[in-house]
Amino acid sequence: MKPNQITRRDDTKYEIWILAHEPAVVESLDSPSFVELRHMYSTRKLLETGTKLGHKIRIFGTKEISLGASNKGMDFVIINNEKLELPDYVIPRTGCRVNYNTTALLRHLEARKIPVLNKLHAIQKAADKFHQFQVLANNGIPIPKTLLLSSKAAFNIIKEEFDFPVILKMTPSSSGKGVALVNDFNALKDYFQFIREANPKANLLVQKYIAHSSGRDVRVLVLGGKVLGAATRKAVSGFKSNLAQGGESQSFKLPPLAKTMAIKSAEVLGLECAGVDLLFMNDHEFCVCEVNSAPGFLVNDSASNSNLATNVFQYLLNKLEENKQT
Ligand SMILES: Nc1ncnc2c1ncn2[C@@H]1O[C@H](COP(=O)(O)OP(=O)(O)O)[C@@H](O)[C@H]1O
Ligand SMILES: [Mg+2]
Repeated sequence: MKPNQITRRDDTKYEIWILAHEPAVVESLDSPSFVELRHMYSTRKLLETGTKLGHKIRIFGTKEISLGASNKGMDFVIINNEKLELPDYVIPRTGCRVNYNTTALLRHLEARKIPVLNKLHAIQKAADKFHQFQVLANNGIPIPKTLLLSSKAAFNIIKEEFDFPVILKMTPSSSGKGVALVNDFNALKDYFQFIREANPKANLLVQKYIAHSSGRDVRVLVLGGKVLGAATRKAVSGFKSNLAQGGESQSFKLPPLAKTMAIKSAEVLGLECAGVDLLFMNDHEFCVCEVNSAPGFLVNDSASNSNLATNVFQYLLNKLEENKQT
């Protein structure tokens, strides 16, 4: 047997790859690099849960991937210097950090009909905050008014269209790191100049500040057109509710209209699995703040003492069993 071949105990055990931005390679719970997953709650949970269920789970940082295409077609995949058989299922978890390698690998896998949780086109759409808003707006889903600020020429429009403070966002960005609250017009000009000086290619969005939601939003986990969990995130200080910014989660009873909004947002973006963030317009109405293609499970797990990785496995194993029968 080739070293990279897995030993399947029976034909209900699968090889599943998780594509991460980092670390390099984790092949099992005993891998020396397992420790690198300590800050990656969801990826670690997927590895632990899948392994417990008897499946072979491999985590790859996308920098380690090489691919082959020849007269024989799109053939081999080399990861970490090893030529690998293709897996049964792939879970991309790079989110907005989808890079050239991930894109090439996902194209490769899709061409070879390997089932992937979230298709490349949907991941790419979600990675671009403005692209998402275009799709959501075009499908009648409420969003905060947003302007792609390409040049200083648009500044006069901002005075007409927005009230201060406004939100300034960079795309792509995540964990609240590329989002700021800007109090007045002069500060906005300063931010614009400052950011463009540091990175002339930065894509910037100006957005209506939803004051009623300050420091608070709802994270809805959608999988296969169903809601798996909903939780509020509350900032300890400031307006950003991301856990990475110190936010704390609590379970939340999702009103039916918000549920429909979250499911439809995932659907119009083509995302099978999505973390939809909703802002409170008032106590009863919501709008979409953003949709994540690789949502973290910690928000919902800690709010309701659950393990969403189990639900993800249930879902993908059903799919694999269904595929066998067709
Ligand atoms: N328009 C807005 N009005 C009020 N708060 C906002 C707005 N946009 C973002 N926020 C807050 O900032 C956080 C981060 O913004 P988001 O667009 O989700 O970026 P990231 O991808 O970094 O999470 C949100 O979770 C929310 O708490
Ligand atoms: Mg967010």
